[in-house]
Amino acid sequence: MAHAEFADSGADLELRGITKRFPGFTAIENLNLTIPAGSFFALLGPSGCGKTTTLRLVAGLENPTEGRILLGGDDVTDTKPHQRPVNTVFQSYALFPHMTVLENVAFGLKRRGIGDAEAKAHEALRLVELDHLAARKPAQLSGGQQQRVALARAVVNRPALLLLDEPLGALDLKLRRSMQLELKHIQGEVGLTFLHVTHDQEEAMTMADTVAVMHRGRIEQMGAPEELYELPRTSFVASFLGQSNLLTGPVVSSTATTVMVEAGGQRIEVLRSRAQRHSGTVTIGVRPEKLLLHTAEPARTAGANILGPGRVTDVSFSGVSTSYTVTVPGIDPLVVFAQNMVSGPVVHEGARVWVSWAMEHGFGLADGPDGADKGAGADTVAPAEGVGADTAPAGQQSGAA
Ligand SMILES: Nc1ncnc2c1ncn2[C@@H]1O[C@H](COP(=O)(O)OP(=O)(O)OP(=O)(O)O)[C@@H](O)[C@H]1O
Ligand SMILES: [Mg+2]
Repeated sequence: MAHAEFADSGADLELRGITKRFPGFTAIENLNLTIPAGSFFALLGPSGCGKTTTLRLVAGLENPTEGRILLGGDDVTDTKPHQRPVNTVFQSYALFPHMTVLENVAFGLKRRGIGDAEAKAHEALRLVELDHLAARKPAQLSGGQQQRVALARAVVNRPALLLLDEPLGALDLKLRRSMQLELKHIQGEVGLTFLHVTHDQEEAMTMADTVAVMHRGRIEQMGAPEELYELPRTSFVASFLGQSNLLTGPVVSSTATTVMVEAGGQRIEVLRSRAQRHSGTVTIGVRPEKLLLHTAEPARTAGANILGPGRVTDVSFSGVSTSYTVTVPGIDPLVVFAQNMVSGPVVHEGARVWVSWAMEHGFGLADGPDGADKGAGADTVAPAEGVGADTAPAGQQSGAA
């Protein structure tokens, strides 16, 4: 193997009851987290939710107010940053401008008196496919290439844990996508533990084995990307990770396997096993791509939910799919994504339609739509003191985003 140099595997990272208080503000509240060795873990959340603070605590750049940090089973809470087997790639990757690419990558090894520094640096540069530019200065590279040099510089130290804080933030969409695949590939080859911070949900889902959705200093839900997407537990997760249509109402009946909710005069069923709550007021969610549009009232069949009639109030073409907004009296506007299998929209604005979906595609949330803050601008609604106060801004709409 060409990359045998990097065959060392990563270490488990364990955060036990971590709280971080800044004067007058609790940034992290009782965070418990285990990231198994060799996994690619993404911490996803809106601006200000505590992602960078978490990385800084792990790197040793901040001290927790409470709690312990363990790496590979060793308690590193009281050790200095340079004593931790951790490397960080920050968003601003600050390469040394007067050094060549090779010298930049070899710098850390040389400073630590490690032999074969240049050979190891070449090896790391081959990994990021930049060895042919080893003699250049950073200013002679594109932004994406500089980003890859920064990555090589971190990987060459073979840290047991690599922390990545929005490392692709500066790149254009296309380069970002290709770097995501490349990073994932590198992680697979070197087998290190990656902790990747991002506010880009697509990036988190594409890259990570496990995604933790963070909200106001707490992890709201954690799991494999498909699991989080298919079965979000809270309105925040349902709306931050992709889009959701949310319908709220009282439970009017239930069976051993289903729960029925009435919302705006319409009855909707959800599988009991996919609902966090089974009585009282329940919010049911369903993803826009799971909805079907009908121009005639569909026959009522068991296991299908039908809403309507309503009107198509917006049609937005976005390339692969078309997004329809459907307004049904009594409920929030519904968003329907339809793949562009035919040219032109399936229905036009103003059309009278029904919307249906299979009951097994719905999910029942643990909270109401008021808990949602849509992700964007969470920094503006975070309470001045303490985290987790369930005070969402007024006027938040569920459903259409
Ligand atoms: N030194 C500090 N003193 C006081 N508050 C701080 C300090 N550092 C961070 N904070 C606050 O802690 C919260 C979390 O900050 P953090 O940098 O972890 O957010 P983030 O999730 O990385 O956000 P972004 O996506 O914008 O980078 C923010 O509300 C921030 O204002
Ligand atoms: Mg940050």
